[in-house]
This record gives sequence, C-alpha cells and structure tokens, in this order.
Amino acid sequence: MTKKKWLWCGTAVSAAAGLGYATWQRSRIVLKTRHDVPAEHSRRLLERAAPLLRLPASSDQAPQVLPDGSGLRSPSTGRIYTYGRGDGRGDGRGILDLLPAEPDQTFTQKALDTPLTAWFYDRFRETITGALNSPDFAGEVVHIQQDLQGGPGDTILDLACGQGNFTVEWAKRVGPAGLVIGLDISLAMLERAAYHVNRWGLDNVLLIRGDAHQLPFADGVLHKVNCSGGFHQFPNLLQALREIARVSAPGAVLTASTFAEGVDDNRAPIKRWLKRRFDLHFVPLADLGDQLGALGYGSYEWLLPGGGWFGYTASHKTV
Ligand SMILES: C[S@@+](CC[C@H](N)C(=O)[O-])C[C@H]1O[C@@H](n2cnc3c(N)ncnc32)[C@H](O)[C@@H]1O
Repeated sequence: MTKKKWLWCGTAVSAAAGLGYATWQRSRIVLKTRHDVPAEHSRRLLERAAPLLRLPASSDQAPQVLPDGSGLRSPSTGRIYTYGRGDGRGDGRGILDLLPAEPDQTFTQKALDTPLTAWFYDRFRETITGALNSPDFAGEVVHIQQDLQGGPGDTILDLACGQGNFTVEWAKRVGPAGLVIGLDISLAMLERAAYHVNRWGLDNVLLIRGDAHQLPFADGVLHKVNCSGGFHQFPNLLQALREIARVSAPGAVLTASTFAEGVDDNRAPIKRWLKRRFDLHFVPLADLGDQLGALGYGSYEWLLPGGGWFGYTASHKTV
C-alpha cells in the first residue's frame, strides 16, 4: 500500500472509532439521565406486584410494600429490598434488586453485564439476529404473540428481559390494567431496559434483578411467561425450567427463543464446541420438549427457522 492509502485508511479508522465513541458516550449520558418516578407511582406498582413476589428466604409470605414506594420489606427477616433508590444501585431508574447473592457468572453472562456490551447488544441486536437468518424483531414479536396472546389486563413475566425490547412490546399490549415483570441477572442490561421503559412512559412495568434459577415468585401465580434469548445462557437450564414450572399456573403458556440444536443438526459439532468454550448452550429442541413434558407441559411446538441457529418454542402447562 502507498503512503497516501495508509493515510486514508488511518483517517477512516480513526473517524469510525471517534464516531463510535461519541455514540457510546451519548448513550451513557442518556442512560444516566435521572427519571424521577413519583413515590406514589412506585408504591402502586409494587403493591400490584407484591402478592406475586417472594423475597429470598421468605418463601411463604408476600413482601410488605414500604409506604413511600422505595422498596419491599421481607416479613420474615425484616430486610429491605430497595426499588430504584437508596442502595446506590439502579438509583432513580426503577430496578428492584432481588438477587439473593452476587452470582458466579459464566463467560457469556459476564460478557453481557457491562455498560458497553449491553449498549452494543441493544444497538446491534437486529444486525446480529439478521446475520443468523432469524426473523426481524417485529417478525419475532408476531410469532411469539401467536402463542403468548398477551392482551389487555394480562400479567406477563419477561424472563431474561435484557435491554427490555420484548418487555416494552408486552407492556404496550397489556395496557394500564396489565403488568409486565422484566427479570434479568444483569444490572447493565436492566439499566437499558429502565431507560426504554421510561422513554416509552410505561407505568405498568416492574424490572427486577434476579436469577432464573431461583425465581422470586410464589408458586403457580403466573399465566404467561416469555423468555427470549435466555435459555442458552442459563448454566442449569433444567433448574430454570423447574422454577418456571413452579411459578406457573395450570394452563399457563411458556414461549421461548434460544440458540438451539435441531434434530440431525449438521452444525451440532460447532454448537457443542461453543457450549464447551463459552457456556453458550445450543439447546436441543427435541430434548427440551421432553424436559418440559416431565415438568407438566404439553402441546410443545418448536421451530428452527433460516440457518438453524436460533429456535422458537411454545408450550402450555397442563397440571
Ligand atoms: C441474549 S440476552 C436476551 C435479551 C432479550 N430478551 C432479547 O431477546 O434481546 C440474554 C439475557 O439473559 C440474561 N441472563 C443470563 N443468565 C440469566 C439468569 N440466570 N437469570 C436471569 N437472566 C439471565 C442476560 O443477562 C441477558 O440479558
């Protein structure tokens, strides 16, 4: 390459890096913008959710809502769980931290739990799924909604809600009488979700920092659970499925999408290598049906569209 070409190349790379950095910094400023949620609003939201919730180490009683809407109190231990203020985490942004303890995260969990990667995922999810020949986001929503049937007044758990893309969609559908609970283990992702929830002015969404392996809900209280892009990240999917089954009522629907392995999948070797190397489980969809069957789910359907990397499932709890 000539000196002139090197110069052009260097200028182009620097410009792209500068633009990327400026976009990233702008997103940080937007994210840090404080959205003051009136105490009355927080209290009402927590009061609606409290009967469904169980705090760590208080499995048999609903939590008490603090009168100023700043959090929940465990009836058995007296411990306070703050809602978006007070403990320095999620301050003013509406996140209820119910993680029993700091988790020992896997490589892929850690990778998504930084402000930069959460921003990147939020910004480029469509590009990533497009590269995997998956439907675009609007197409995914239509597909999932066929089974989830989220409508006015429903309560929906959006498990592994990440940056809140599906959470916002379901919240628009369930309307003011409904409730969407977005639960994720990553604070960085939840901060993005809180930003989107605030941006859309939704007051029917509760964002919880929690773990799919130990869901902070009472038995049999949920009728609609969606988990988009979560199953492949859970270190112990069977335990997470047990928890989903425990908190779901008879007749409840479970919709999920995940990196997946089909039957006679010619990409199985690379998928299994990715699992060993990065804890990225390509969930064998036929086996998933068996596991769900053993947990009382029926009418299991699965689909592995396009290039066969990312699958969609739906099933109903029969007992
Ligand atoms: C690929 S993102 C999916 C985000 C969003 N639902 C979507 O479809 O774009 C996977 C999410 O699963 C979350 N996750 C991983 N392990 C989890 C766990 N044990 N409990 C709850 N969330 C978890 C990650 O933090 C991440 O936000």
